[in-house]
Amino acid sequence: MLTSIVRSFTSLVLLLLAVLSLEAHAAPGVAVHLPLPNRIVKQFAEDVWFENIAVRSNGNLLLTTLTPNASLYEIQNPSSKSPTVVRHFTIDSVRCLFGVVETAPDVFAVSGGSFNDTTGGVKGSFALWAADFAKEKSPKPKLIAKIPDAILLNGATTVPNHRNLVLLADSSLNVVWRVDVNTGKVDVAVTLPQGVPYVPNTVSIVTNGLHARNDYLWWSNYTQTTNPKTGAPEAAMYRIKITDKGSTAAHAKAEKRFNLPITGMDDFTFGPGKKDLQWVATNTNNQIFAVNSKGKYALVAGATDSFTVATSTSCTFGRTKHDGNILYVATGYTTLNGVTRGGKVVAIDTTGFCL
Ligand SMILES: *[C@@H]1O[C@H](CO)[C@@H](O)[C@H](O)[C@H]1NC(C)=O
Ligand SMILES: *[C@@H]1O[C@H](CO)[C@@H](O)[C@H](O)[C@H]1NC(C)=O
Ligand SMILES: *[C@@H]1O[C@H](CO)[C@@H](O)[C@H](O)[C@H]1NC(C)=O
Repeated sequence: MLTSIVRSFTSLVLLLLAVLSLEAHAAPGVAVHLPLPNRIVKQFAEDVWFENIAVRSNGNLLLTTLTPNASLYEIQNPSSKSPTVVRHFTIDSVRCLFGVVETAPDVFAVSGGSFNDTTGGVKGSFALWAADFAKEKSPKPKLIAKIPDAILLNGATTVPNHRNLVLLADSSLNVVWRVDVNTGKVDVAVTLPQGVPYVPNTVSIVTNGLHARNDYLWWSNYTQTTNPKTGAPEAAMYRIKITDKGSTAAHAKAEKRFNLPITGMDDFTFGPGKKDLQWVATNTNNQIFAVNSKGKYALVAGATDSFTVATSTSCTFGRTKHDGNILYVATGYTTLNGVTRGGKVVAIDTTGFCL
């Protein structure tokens, strides 16, 4: 009897060990299966491409569209079975909206401009608007500043402790524009490595996502490079030290932090909560990766031939006590094997995950 209990206990332990070694990313005592559990929050029409996502303090999601026009959407109650969708506004003077970031409690800044598939970003079309949910239930956009010399604004972030300072990645010029939302002042905060110089009237997307955290400004690089050993495609995440106002810190240099086995890196976020994990959208690679501070990574959702998180453009964690571990992923539209599906928002449950 006892021996059989010992034997079955031993086999249970062996089984658990086997399971744990298969599930190398499980938290102690918690079996987390990969891919992580996920569900569609809301599916949109075939021509809708979401470019960026932010969360209001009440938990509602804000989304910008790249196509079919420059709109700001809100998804109310994203954790409910049937969330409500509101389109707050469409800016007619530009074709696309890009970054969205909170600059004061429930006040957001939204960047927009025009992008042409063959000639790239349209110089002179870019600007930053405010959407003030603190004052208006359905805010109308208010122009903060034009950024006349920008070519293609993409990711946006605020400077920690100075949220009135918005930093905007220029994907073509590879500079970081800074806009003070209180004064409308525009300048260049950081000049990033140029690599191949920008050629006017071409589509050039290098710097993509942008996030300031602690003393560093992080950005994803959309450029596809080649792994020297395997010849496989890869793309990289970088960071540079910044001052408390978001400028390059004295003597700071760009540091490459990690590569992922993908053809281009899109926007990303940190979390959940204070966790030092990065969650990376990969656009046409149709996948989401999680990466720790040592550069160890795991594929947590999607596959190249799957619609699950296809054309993931950006992601962010929920802000309420119910969805603090939920990673919300925004996507563009995708065609796979002749089938086209529009942009959507997917919720990935990261509870128990660690690397
Ligand atoms: C923008 O696109 C959305 C989605 O197709 C559509 O519902 C809306 O009418 C468009 N708005 C304008 C002003 O064109
Ligand atoms: C993009 O630019 C080209 C060249 O100027 C123009 O012919 C084309 O109509 C533009 N495309 C769009 C969608 O505006
Ligand atoms: C992006 O990657 C390319 C290829 O490695 C490199 O030449 C360029 O300097 C990088 N630029 C930025 C802004 O990270």
